[in-house]
Amino acid sequence: MRGSIIVSAVLLGLSYAKPTLNRRYVVKESHPVPTEFSRVGEAPGHHLMRLQIAVKQGQFEVLEKHLWEISDPDHARYGKHLSLAEVNDLVKPTDESTDMVREWLHEHVSPEHIEASPAGDFLSFTLPIAKIEQMLQTNYSIYQHEDGSKLVRTHEWSLPLHLHEHVSAVQPTTAFIRTVPQAKTYVSVPGAAEVPTVQTYGGKPTVEKVCDTAGVTPLCLRTLYGTVDYKPKAAGRNQIGLTNYLGELNNRSDAAIYLKNYRPEAISGAQTFKQISVANGSLQQTPETPAQLKAGTGVEGALDVQTILGVSWPTPLLAWSTGGDPPPFTPDADDPTVDNEPYLTWVNYVLRQPFVPQVISNSYEDNEQTVPLSYARVVCSQFAQLSARGVSVLFGSGDGGVGGVQPGGSCKSNVDGSTRFIPLFPSSCPYVTSIGATVGFNPEVAAYDPRNKFSTGGGFSNYFPQPAWQAKAVKSYLHTLGDEFEGLYNTSGRAYPDLSVYGVNYTIIWNGTLRRVDGTSAATPTAAGIFALLNDALIAHGKPTLGFLNPWLYKKGKAAFVDVTSGSAPGCNTTGFPATIGWDPVTGFGTPRFDKLLKAVGL
Ligand SMILES: *[C@@H]1O[C@H](CO)[C@@H](O)[C@H](O)[C@H]1NC(C)=O
Ligand SMILES: *[C@@H]1O[C@H](CO)[C@@H](O)[C@H](O)[C@H]1NC(C)=O
Ligand SMILES: *[C@@H]1O[C@H](CO)[C@@H](O)[C@H](O)[C@H]1NC(C)=O
Ligand SMILES: *[C@@H]1O[C@H](CO)[C@@H](O)[C@H](O)[C@H]1NC(C)=O
Ligand SMILES: *[C@@H]1O[C@H](CO)[C@@H](O)[C@H](O)[C@H]1NC(C)=O
Ligand SMILES: *[C@@H]1O[C@H](CO)[C@@H](O)[C@H](O)[C@H]1NC(C)=O
Ligand SMILES: *[C@@H]1O[C@H](CO)[C@@H](O)[C@H](O)[C@H]1NC(C)=O
Repeated sequence: MRGSIIVSAVLLGLSYAKPTLNRRYVVKESHPVPTEFSRVGEAPGHHLMRLQIAVKQGQFEVLEKHLWEISDPDHARYGKHLSLAEVNDLVKPTDESTDMVREWLHEHVSPEHIEASPAGDFLSFTLPIAKIEQMLQTNYSIYQHEDGSKLVRTHEWSLPLHLHEHVSAVQPTTAFIRTVPQAKTYVSVPGAAEVPTVQTYGGKPTVEKVCDTAGVTPLCLRTLYGTVDYKPKAAGRNQIGLTNYLGELNNRSDAAIYLKNYRPEAISGAQTFKQISVANGSLQQTPETPAQLKAGTGVEGALDVQTILGVSWPTPLLAWSTGGDPPPFTPDADDPTVDNEPYLTWVNYVLRQPFVPQVISNSYEDNEQTVPLSYARVVCSQFAQLSARGVSVLFGSGDGGVGGVQPGGSCKSNVDGSTRFIPLFPSSCPYVTSIGATVGFNPEVAAYDPRNKFSTGGGFSNYFPQPAWQAKAVKSYLHTLGDEFEGLYNTSGRAYPDLSVYGVNYTIIWNGTLRRVDGTSAATPTAAGIFALLNDALIAHGKPTLGFLNPWLYKKGKAAFVDVTSGSAPGCNTTGFPATIGWDPVTGFGTPRFDKLLKAVGL
């Protein structure tokens, strides 16, 4: 067996050295079970599971080097985004990795049942859990979350030693991401639903006249950030995208009510935005069930779609709804668990498309520590591919200040139980742009709402080191901070957010009536809308779109932002990091101004 592989490699003229195969199984990954879960039994061996193997990408370091170059405004290659084929060429695993992983897989599953991604960096197939347990020398268990939902996972898995360097991740194994976290980053503001009021304004709008902190509308946001007079010219060549997970919905009739009241000229947008279902994601446009209403399903989706249409219309909008919502796990059922990890499912789908919207708004985050390192790395490297293709990938920085994804987190490290600030993923990924939230118009302050304890999120990754483009900004902040909070955060990690936008008391329409919500979930679609309009201007001038924002932002773009210097990111029973002069891990560089953004991109 081993011999025949080597012979065929030689016949094919492949040049890698004869591999030493060490078939001894060694633990590849252990990850603590999040404290919200308890083990309630053994996984049924006959139950089918779909496994995804991430094979080590051949030239990821080269891809990353390209990404830094094409995103650096001072580099000759700035704006020369890579094509789908160029990216696939770089992430394609080496023949050695592919051969070794496949040789092992073919002992367990027949080749025709293995589905490969276009670049060959992901291999997936369905097998009974008992077989998977043999392949990974592990025992899967049923885990129950505090909320009663169950899923099948393990806390540790192994691989033959000779495969360790060729496999980046295997899921589902240790990622408990699906049920709990994956949090939507909005927080409802208490109060009765109201009938919306039409906002009209004659004459030149000013912030004083059209903005009310009790209910923020698109006219206010467009006036505050200076896009209100901008006439999009390149809508046919520009697009903006948003993602839905967890059964979230974008209801067209609610969007129509919102636009009729707050942006009447955009009302057709409610019917024309495009919806795509990925992995059986829900495109529901029928009345919600009582259970959905009770759960507030569709509030996040309403906020995202309405804000984007209100700010960036007529830029065409594409909304993806990704499935993989936890089917209630029933040990006796024989149906395959549709057990994919949602970010990977979505990003791998979108990476296969030849054309991807140039800006994508994402309002979902997890506490980084609930996501295994291998999974975070793989998903983050997929985001790097989107960025290299010229897409600005935006994520909200979370709603629990320094304490995690939602207010009131427990702030315990799951490594040693010590008290720590809790950073979020994907904001901690260095290839995405993280968006914080502000409140108030004069001055603008880091967002905090005493009614629901929403506080804008910020922090430092424990998984991803600080990229060079932010080293100077972060160093300067840490110098100002001194030894406050020492030991509670990781000074060498990727720090976020990168910038911020208003995020309190957004008026939205849900279930036919007006609601108010807070969140970096509100700030992120607004930021996405502003960058989509900036791309429109660039396209109209025959220039490349922005692509990955951060190297440009930390070098030149920052000049287009109003620095937010007061407020903080309370969490973990502390006031959290303070906002300061210059970049800070609360509001980033502050809030954008469109006229200055145009200047910063040379228009
Ligand atoms: C799995 O469980 C069986 C039965 O309890 C045990 O013998 C075996 O050592 C376990 N395997 C691993 C990898 O933990
Ligand atoms: C949000 O709106 C409510 C009224 O609905 C108002 O009482 C509150 O002060 C507003 N919050 C802020 C931070 O302006
Ligand atoms: C897709 O979703 C529908 C309705 O939500 C459900 O009935 C169907 O079983 C799902 N199909 C798969 C393959 O999960
Ligand atoms: C949703 O709208 C229906 C119809 O107007 C109403 O009866 C119901 O109370 C609303 N539910 C919620 C949770 O707002
Ligand atoms: C701090 O971050 C670095 C990566 O930037 C990581 O190697 C290290 O393990 C982290 N420390 C802790 C305590 O998590
Ligand atoms: C949207 O929600 C409303 C309830 O607010 C419901 O009646 C309607 O069927 C949903 N879908 C569409 C397309 O209107
Ligand atoms: C915050 O303080 C309260 C009251 O002392 C305590 O119950 C809670 O556990 C603390 N939370 C954290 C995250 O330290």
